[in-house]
This record gives sequence, C-alpha cells and structure tokens, in this order.
Amino acid sequence: MDNEETYIAHVVVLAYHGQGHINPMVQFSKRLAAKGIKVTVTTTLSNTKAMKSAYGPIKFETIYDDCTEGGVAGPGGFKGFLDRFEAIGSRKLVEFIRKFQDSEKPVKCLIYDANIPWASNVATELGIARAAFFTQSCAFVTTCYPMHCDLSGKPPSVPLLSMPGLPELRVPNLPSLGPETGRYPPIIRLILSQFDNSEKADWVLFNSFAKLEVEVIYWMSRLWPLKTIGPTLPSVYVDNRLIDDNDYGFNIYTPNTDTCMKWLDSKETQSVIYVSFGSAASLSAEQTAELANALLHSSKSFLWVVKPSEESKLPTKFSKGNPDKGLVVKWCPQLAVLAHDAVGCFVSHCGWNSTMEAISLGVPLVAMPQFLDQMTNAHFVEHVWRVGVKPKTDENGLAPREEIETCIDEIMQGERGREINKNAAHWKALAKEAIDEGGSSDKCIDDIIAQLSSC
Ligand code: UDX
Repeated sequence: MDNEETYIAHVVVLAYHGQGHINPMVQFSKRLAAKGIKVTVTTTLSNTKAMKSAYGPIKFETIYDDCTEGGVAGPGGFKGFLDRFEAIGSRKLVEFIRKFQDSEKPVKCLIYDANIPWASNVATELGIARAAFFTQSCAFVTTCYPMHCDLSGKPPSVPLLSMPGLPELRVPNLPSLGPETGRYPPIIRLILSQFDNSEKADWVLFNSFAKLEVEVIYWMSRLWPLKTIGPTLPSVYVDNRLIDDNDYGFNIYTPNTDTCMKWLDSKETQSVIYVSFGSAASLSAEQTAELANALLHSSKSFLWVVKPSEESKLPTKFSKGNPDKGLVVKWCPQLAVLAHDAVGCFVSHCGWNSTMEAISLGVPLVAMPQFLDQMTNAHFVEHVWRVGVKPKTDENGLAPREEIETCIDEIMQGERGREINKNAAHWKALAKEAIDEGGSSDKCIDDIIAQLSSC
C-alpha cells in the first residue's frame, strides 16, 4: 500500500507509443520514482499489462486505445490516428488527471513526449507545470528546428549546412525520410509539431548529457529551459553489469532472453558482432543479403535481431542457423546484450536509444543509418565522438558486403579499432559520470525535483 505522504510530488508522464519513445520515458520515470516522486505513466497502448507487473513504484494507465503493438489502427492511417489521438486523447488526459486533483497527491506536472505537443494545452487547462521530453539528440532536434529544417524533399542548394553548435553537415548527414520524403506528410507534421508549445514548457528534457553535445546544448539553452537527463539507462550500472536488469516492461516483441544470454555466455570476450536495426527500420532484401554475406564471411560470430516482418528477406542458409557461427532472433534484451563481455561491436541503424545505449556501455558501432535522425547520429558516431565507422554506400544507398566486412574488421581487429575502442571507453566513463550522483544529468533531475517540491 502506498504511503502518499512520503512522496515529494506526483507527476504524470505521457509517452508516445513507439518502442524508441517508451523506453527512455519509462527509464526516466523509474529514476524519478527512485528519488521519491510518485509517477503515473500513461501511454497510447492498451497493452500495459506487462508494464503494470514489471514496475512496482510506477503506475501505468492507458488513456487511449487506438493503437496496435508497434503501430496504429483505425481509419485514415497515420494521419487519422494523429487527428483522433489529439481530439480524444486530450479530453481523456484532462479527465484522467482531474481524478487525482482532489486526492492527497494531486498531479503537479505533466511530462509529455514532444511528439504530443497538445499535451501542453492540457497542462494549461489544469494549471499544472509541464515538461516536453525530446527522445532524440539535441543535434537532431536543432537540425529540425523550423529555422533550419526543410523536409519538403527538395535537396538544399548548398553542399554544407552550418547550424549553431553543430559541425558543418552535408546533405547525407541531415535528417531524411529517404527519396520519398514528400509522401510522408503526417511524419513531417509530427516532426515539426514537436516545437509547438515548447516555449511554454517549464522544462525541455533531452535524453543526452552535457559533455556529449556541449556546444549545441549551449545554443539550445538560450532558446529553452533545457535539462539533459540522460543516459536514461536502468538507474544504476557498474562496470558492464546492469544492476536493474534489462527490464523495460514493454517490448514490441517478446525478447529471446535465455537463448541470447546462454549463447553469449558460451562466447569469448569481444568475439561477437551484435546486429540490430531497432523497431522501425526495414532493410531492403538486397541490403539484407549484403549484410548476411558480410556476417557469414567474417571471422567473428554474430547475434542478429531480425524482426518477424523482416524474416522473409533472409537468405535460406540463415533460417537453418549455425549456432557456432551465429544466432538469429526476433528480439533480444538489447541492454543486457550490449553489456555482455562477449559483444565487441554493434552493427546498428543508429536510432537514438541504440546510439546512447552503445555509448553508455562502451560498445563501438558500425553505423548503417536508414532514415531521419539516424543519418545525423551516424555522422556524430563516426566523426564527432569517433566511436564507430560507417560503411560507404553506392549511389542507391546500398552498403556492399565488402564495405561492411571492412568496417567490422577495423573495429574488431584493426589499428583504428584500438583507437575507437579507447574512445568508446572514454564516452562510457563520461556517460556514467553524468548520471551518477552529483553528475550533470543527475543535478538536472534534482533541480526539477526541487522546483516541484516547492510549487
Ligand atoms: C525510433 C527511430 O528509428 C529512431 O531513429 C529514433 O531515434 C527513435 O525512434 P527505433 O527504431 O526503435 O526508434 O530505434 P532506437 O531508438 O534505437 O530504439 C530501439 C530500442 O529498442 C532500444 O532501446 C533497444 O534497446 C530496444 N531493443 C531493440 C531491444 O530491447 N531489443 C531488440 O532486439 C532491439
């Protein structure tokens, strides 16, 4: 039974329904809860059962049900979903928060995913504080800031773009929806709407840390009351061991945890290539074949996450499997995998969570970005933080087998690999420093809590 009096304050967290959005918000919620805040997480998913049982201190509630796991349902596709979510979701959110307002712990603050900007109006209506939570990097968000961004699909007329706090970026390293950009207006709407209302926020939160994005954070702090609160990994980790398991409580697929961990236990230190493209990216059949061949020809073993929707693209050899050489699973406990000694390299799409997780656990990356922020993240991985390499692609954006193999070899056995591994260890230490007690991110969280306790 909760003792309401012992809580410092009560906050409601509104998470957008994608895997890459829920993960950092749930982890952040756990950290707030560990610091004495009562946290109620609301999501657009009806499937909150696993979450309810997984997180003692955090309560999970569904305010809106028009989603399937990993997707959206209902008429009108994604646009229809966005319209209904705003119309119905905002009303339900007001009703939901009102229920608490006469209780012993009324809600003092609404923390919402920046992809749900109308939540700010809900906070205004209820007279409570609000924080916009951006689930991507400060650099990416800067490139999308309306002043800089052109997602119309027309190529910019200059080869290099210069933005405050960022290195000069060439077009391929800027956010992209691919050649068919113009066909995704609801996604463009979603990206641009992130900025609606952010000037009204009491805090603008980023899953990043001060030393990782120093200059751009400085620039953004002049626009908004910015707080970096990352990495939002399970609350405490020591060396490579995660104290808090890999328990996110929500996964679009059930992870093959035992199979993966037992298989990794049987492998030597830094002998395994881990391959995953997150929850949303999809490789072409051609790219899947190039990657499959690179993995087969590598002298190392591999653990490859292939989502059910991607399985049909695998060459036939892979469906039979060869446990000495490689393991193919539908989903894995990624944090526990990255924290395992056997993993020496991560072939990744560079989604922001995967990038932050790799950086925080010191695992070098082979960066194979597919779209959106992944392009910019991959550039930073290779050229700014220097914790990875990116295979060269041909004119169709295809990374050939030989290129992927060369990058893997460079990281796992080459001269450049030693340097990259050293950088990875450096950033890992800085990530830990940021989130440890008294570190820059920890202080930002304490600041928010102090302000909440006094309002
Ligand atoms: C999406 C976008 O693709 C990404 O670019 C954006 O930054 C966030 O939204 P996603 O594709 O899911 O996210 O990638 P990512 O941000 O890397 O998040 C994936 C999450 O799923 C990570 O937290 C990762 O640990 C987890 N995961 C992935 C697993 O737990 N198991 C897996 O097998 C694969």
